[in-house]
Order: sequence, then C-alpha cells, then structure tokens
Amino acid sequence: MKIKEAKFLKSSANYEKCPPANLPEVAFIGRSNVGKSSLINMLTGIKNMAKTSSTPGKTQLINHFIVDDKWYLVDLPGYGFAKVPLSEKAKWEKMTWDYLLNRVNLMYVFVLIDMRIPPQKIDLDFVKKLGQSDIPIKIIFTKADKVKTLEGQKNINAFREALTADWAIIPEYFITSAERRTGKVELLGLLGEIFEA
Ligand code: GTP
Ligand code: MG
Repeated sequence: MKIKEAKFLKSSANYEKCPPANLPEVAFIGRSNVGKSSLINMLTGIKNMAKTSSTPGKTQLINHFIVDDKWYLVDLPGYGFAKVPLSEKAKWEKMTWDYLLNRVNLMYVFVLIDMRIPPQKIDLDFVKKLGQSDIPIKIIFTKADKVKTLEGQKNINAFREALTADWAIIPEYFITSAERRTGKVELLGLLGEIFEA
C-alpha cells in the first residue's frame, strides 16, 4: 500500500481518552530508544511526525496518527528505561496494558526489538505476555544499519529460538532500518493486507 496522508491526531494519557474506536489501528511498542517513532516516520514518509530523540523516554503518551482517513497508527511509550522511577514505571504499565487489553479496534501490535543485541529478558517477557493475552503481534527487528549482517542474524535467530518456549508458531518478523529505509516496502505491504483486505 501507499500512504498518501498521515497526520498527528491526539496524545492520550489513558486508553479511555483515545480517539473513538471507529477505525482500525496498529500500535508500535518496544524498549525505550529502540526506534518506534523513527520507524513510524519512515513508514509515513514524514520526517518529524512522531517525535524522536537520542534520550530514551521521549514518547510518554499514547499518540494517535490518522492515515488516509482510514486507519490509526499508534506510537506508544517504550519500556525498560532504567532511570525511570518506580512510580513512573507503574504508570506506564497501567496505561499500556489497559490500552493493549481494552482497545477493541487494535488489529496488531508491532513489537520492536533491537537487532544489535542478543535476546533480552525484558523483551521476551513482554512478547510472552502479549501472547498469553491473545494479542496478535508482528516482530520488527530495528537498527539493521548498525549491526554486521551475520551478527544481526545471529541475534534474530536466538530471539526466535527463545520464543519457541512460549509460542507454537513464531510470529512473522521484519528487519528494518529507519536510517536506510530497509523493510519499508515489506511493512507497507503488510499494512495493506491488514487495512485493505
Ligand atoms: P522512546 O520514545 O524514547 O521510547 O524511543 P523510540 O523507540 O521512539 O526511539 P526513537 O525513534 O526516538 O529513536 C531513538 C534513537 O535511535 C534516535 O537517536 C534515532 O535516530 C535512532 N534510530 C532509530 N532507528 C534507527 C535506525 O534504524 N538506525 C539508526 N542508525 N538509528 C536509529
Ligand atoms: Mg518514541
């Protein structure tokens, strides 16, 4: 699919405040700084639509973007930022899981994983919890430009291997680089399947 128009719609502090669930949506989630906002900008082709930062914790609310007046794309705050106080962490947990478990128009959650590093417990636990909650997911390995191909592939294989403990069928995955636009065509193809079917 091609995205003709995408615009920021609303930031919400909880799922009750999100835009009416009258259009289908997909959400992007993953560890703080993994590249969620950058990936959204790559997909829409709008450079600074979703705010990015080299400082982890940039995205703090549930951000809705509306695409071609037909579907929502959602940028979520990242997890696992070590410097966040416990109270903030609890707030994030509640906001995110309330959203993930209750948002009725949520078609898929895209979980972003940094492919420069071996599987991290925090990511595996998060993916496992999504699976236990019957939330459909796709996995996106990010920052492909920052890792040697073989090493990146090794990390991906190890992550998929680790998932076999909890998943009978390993979720479909994509390899991306927001820097080089790697994976853009493939991801837009998937979004086409989801929203134009
Ligand atoms: P939070 O909102 O803080 O959770 O972070 P985020 O996951 O939205 O990450 P963001 O898109 O803000 O990117 C974090 C940093 O990584 C920024 O400095 C980006 O420029 C950089 N970055 C993101 N994607 C890529 C990529 O594919 N390649 C490279 N080289 N850098 C990237
Ligand atoms: Mg962000």
